[in-house]
Amino acid sequence: MRKENYQLSYGSKVPDSTLREPGTDVRVLGIGSGSGEVDSAMFKRLLQRHSSVYSRVVEPSGEMIEKYKTLVREDTSLGAVKFDWRQQTAEEYFQTKEDTKFHLVHAVHVLYNVEDHDATLRNMWEQLADGGCMLVAMESDTSNWGKLQYKLWDDFGQGDRLKTSFRTSGDVKRWFDTAGISYVTSEDEISVNVTECFKDDSEAGIMILEFLTKTPYVSRRLKVGRLNNDSPARYAASFTSFLDATEMSKESYYHSYESKVPDSTLCEAGTEVRVLGIGSGSGEADSIITKKLLQHHNGVYNRVVEPSGEMIEKYKTLVREDTSLSAVKFDWRQQTTEEYFQTKENTKFHLIHAINVLYYVEDPVATLRNMWEQLADGGYMLVTMESENGDWGKLQLKLWDDFGQGDRLDTSLRMAGDVRRWLDTMGATYVSFQNKVNVNTTECFEKNSEEGMLLLDFITHTPYTSDIPEIQAMALEFIRRHSSVVDDRITFLSIEETIVAFKKGT
Ligand SMILES: C[S@@+](CC[C@H](N)C(=O)[O-])C[C@H]1O[C@@H](n2cnc3c(N)ncnc32)[C@H](O)[C@@H]1O
Repeated sequence: MRKENYQLSYGSKVPDSTLREPGTDVRVLGIGSGSGEVDSAMFKRLLQRHSSVYSRVVEPSGEMIEKYKTLVREDTSLGAVKFDWRQQTAEEYFQTKEDTKFHLVHAVHVLYNVEDHDATLRNMWEQLADGGCMLVAMESDTSNWGKLQYKLWDDFGQGDRLKTSFRTSGDVKRWFDTAGISYVTSEDEISVNVTECFKDDSEAGIMILEFLTKTPYVSRRLKVGRLNNDSPARYAASFTSFLDATEMSKESYYHSYESKVPDSTLCEAGTEVRVLGIGSGSGEADSIITKKLLQHHNGVYNRVVEPSGEMIEKYKTLVREDTSLSAVKFDWRQQTTEEYFQTKENTKFHLIHAINVLYYVEDPVATLRNMWEQLADGGYMLVTMESENGDWGKLQLKLWDDFGQGDRLDTSLRMAGDVRRWLDTMGATYVSFQNKVNVNTTECFEKNSEEGMLLLDFITHTPYTSDIPEIQAMALEFIRRHSSVVDDRITFLSIEETIVAFKKGT
């Protein structure tokens, strides 16, 4: 709809004649008049039947008042309107007692923003002359936009809806009804083009969505726990920051897997041990596991499922350079877990592992089920995930409680506990090991540190955490409260849990 047509439509909503004392101006009180386009459509209508108008304009924004004054200067047909400018909020205006009564009091799309919706209506009503009329425009409670707001409130709102901007014409009508005031209503349909909202990373789309949901950072909020899914490039950069911040050498970290692999794995006499690696990355953890198996078995067949070609190349280089892996037959599958498990397979494996991978697969439960199915009887499944017993895991669960939307398992905020729960429902036996890793988070507290912002994104699994003030404040406060500070280093505890489950023979 064109802006001009929309604004002019308000002229027709003003009653043809307004009751007033003979020989006086028609007195109009505009609450939150903005830059005056709607007001002037109303004046033009009034000036068709009345010779002069006195208009009191209550508007807190100086910029809007200036625009309004320019409009008045440029439109000679408004010459018969006397303006009384009040640069004030409705609350400030109604605080000072006033004897003037108005013939028309209006608030067009303003009551979303006033502090107290009902008190403002009451105050407006009190300044209305007997025989005068009050005009209020609000989004309709029966429109799709109005319904979206109610649904948003039902699903995510907290406290009293009327204390927020989620107010509609329904609230105004309820107030009139309880005050026993008679009224008429009219509706204008306006179509809003929301195509931009569905485009990835469209700034315009983000702004439209924030306006429609009346919720700041709404798109960012929907990204809580979705760093890897929604911003893979940022994920990669923040993962590097995380590795730099861990206070453990890479070697001792990967070697810690050695003790978690069972000494020997049941396999049919004369055959190789069959290993399936899910999301093996560049192979550092996998190769430690394979070497441990080679201490007790002559040969290993290792199927590697890893979607990144770059990772597979690094893994192949590692294999070429490490002669102790020469007894391993590799079967490279450059695929995601989802692609891999789509093709039916008869091979059963003696050891299947997924080390810090289940955060990223589409459906962690389906992946666990598929892994379990490819496990030979008497074989082991080894899964490493962040534990909810560490401070980092606790922070992730709190993040989800405070800001998460939908199903946590659809995001990367997945924990070792989720794996244990699944194994419990399967009645599987398992043991679990904890590995404490200190993360140096000092940089997260440095203002404008790009490195710190990336690290915080990794810790929250949320892209651009620093752009969402509430989430940033909560995460930093949590980290500070749970960290140890030694020599100005703020160290936060991560506990990685490795669960080794045993598949009994049937
Ligand atoms: C944090 S790295 C872990 C690599 C290795 N397991 C380790 O511990 O060193 C996660 C790995 O999961 C892989 N990945 C991501 N999405 C995946 C998916 N849907 N299926 C299989 N692997 C995936 C990534 O390419 C990456 O190599």
